[in-house]
Amino acid sequence: MKRTFWKEAVVYQIYPRSFQDSNGDGIGDLQGILARLDYLQKLGVTVVWLSPVYKSPNDDNGYDISDYEDIMDEFGTLRDWEELLAGLHERGIKLMMDLVINHSSDEHVWFVESRSSKDNPYRDYYIWRPGGPDGALPNNWSSIFSGPAWEQDETTGEYYLHLFSRKQPDLNWENPRLREALYKMMAFWLDKGVDGLRMDVINLISKVEGLPSVQHEDLAPGELAGGGEYYMNGPRVHEYLQEMNREVLSKYDVMTVGETPGATVEDAILYTDEDRHELQMVFQFEHMDVDSGPGGKWNVVSWTLKGLRDILHKWQVGLADKGWNSLYLNNHDQPRMVSRFGDDGKYRVQSAKMLATLLHTLKGTPYIYQGEEIGMTNVKFPALEDYKDIEILNMYREKVTEGGTDHDTILQAIHSKGRDNARTPMQWNASSNAGFTTGTPWLKLNPRYTEINVEQALADPDSVFYYYQELIRLRKQHPIMVYGEYELLLPEHEYIYAYTRTLDDEKWLILLNFGDTPQTVELTDELNAVTGTIISNYPEEPAAMDRSTLRPYEARVCRIG
Ligand code: NOJ
Repeated sequence: MKRTFWKEAVVYQIYPRSFQDSNGDGIGDLQGILARLDYLQKLGVTVVWLSPVYKSPNDDNGYDISDYEDIMDEFGTLRDWEELLAGLHERGIKLMMDLVINHSSDEHVWFVESRSSKDNPYRDYYIWRPGGPDGALPNNWSSIFSGPAWEQDETTGEYYLHLFSRKQPDLNWENPRLREALYKMMAFWLDKGVDGLRMDVINLISKVEGLPSVQHEDLAPGELAGGGEYYMNGPRVHEYLQEMNREVLSKYDVMTVGETPGATVEDAILYTDEDRHELQMVFQFEHMDVDSGPGGKWNVVSWTLKGLRDILHKWQVGLADKGWNSLYLNNHDQPRMVSRFGDDGKYRVQSAKMLATLLHTLKGTPYIYQGEEIGMTNVKFPALEDYKDIEILNMYREKVTEGGTDHDTILQAIHSKGRDNARTPMQWNASSNAGFTTGTPWLKLNPRYTEINVEQALADPDSVFYYYQELIRLRKQHPIMVYGEYELLLPEHEYIYAYTRTLDDEKWLILLNFGDTPQTVELTDELNAVTGTIISNYPEEPAAMDRSTLRPYEARVCRIG
């Protein structure tokens, strides 16, 4: 397998709004990030992925871009951004920018022009349709942020498509002029020295011709339905990505990861097979659905290790020879991993380290989301008013205010799945507002900041932080962690995820206990062959005779043979 920097990378995601405020307006900014670069260097990460910092009215916190070639006022200026890039590069860290090109903001000049008349030269930059008879919508698709995916525009009376909020109109990729404009914009950033691109919902850019309505016998007339089958991994998506690769990506040494909800292993191979010249890896979502019931994300059900492992295993095997995996358990759209897959109470530290071990020893590129490295947890705000995320607020309106679902049920779902779990400000220390801002934070802090914060983590040699630092150090030292072949053991164990990695004549055994009680593993041959422990989240080595027992949330990486 070809060795590349992006396979060896460890990526750290920054959600700039919540990372570090430098000017007291309660919103994180670029100068704030600059002040924390030494921290990132100490952790050892090799790439920083910045969630969007472009000009935006912030309907969806920057995922609605009104100017692709300038910086959001709250975050600073292009000069601050250049300083940040230089600061990262000085420390040997690469910069990956977020690229949001399935849609723009409705305040982007392209859309302002586009909506102004039917014959405006920018009309075709977006997806416009007349309404149906009797005021019907152009089709029955629902928006991912609730309600219909169509908004009628007063000026021309036509509707535009928005798969996300009505302030995020979808761009029309069928239009070659639009594509060219986007490629030019990408080159603008790559020429400035950007090293990587994370492409927001990139598998939604090609819609099925005719935008057909979802047909289903249970649908009442006028009822909305998902529609994903008509726009996820659509008919021309590979053609577009190959064109983008030819026109832009191939001209730079750039790392790429596509966000691809609904992509299967087979789709991912098409996106990431090196011979196809599209992307290097994708963020798949299957494992993020292990605790969703038939009603979707907000229909929270309990997950099992078997469910989670079967999915991760399928992806490990599926992309073993062609393509490459990204490894993540949380990000700015997902709840905190320690609350979701570990234990954010008694075993917070142990379980955060165990999950970290998984992320750094599966085959693929690990992505750390800010605060994960100190074991930050979900938050349970008591009132809806404490939440700011448009997805949460729209969903609440649809389900409770208009739909009559009980408030407590939905609040509980928000507590376990809401995106604001990940967006509470970074916890730097135990002082007021956790050192995030001297002003009023745009989103309340998680009250646990007095106990869980960076200052505390740096002062404690057994902290989650130092465990991450060690995993990253090991990864840089041992190619087996990046390139070693993965093989599953104990596929039916209720609590233990066990596997080996093998590279040439080196072999490692990884044992992870996802349970809060001791668990026994029957792996006599492997355990007898253990010649040393590489890393573990429990301080003392188990005595030889006890090796087959894993303590609550224990993680052990051993060399065998
Ligand atoms: C995925 C992003 O990660 C999410 O934060 C955003 O709301 C949607 N795409 C729309 O851009």
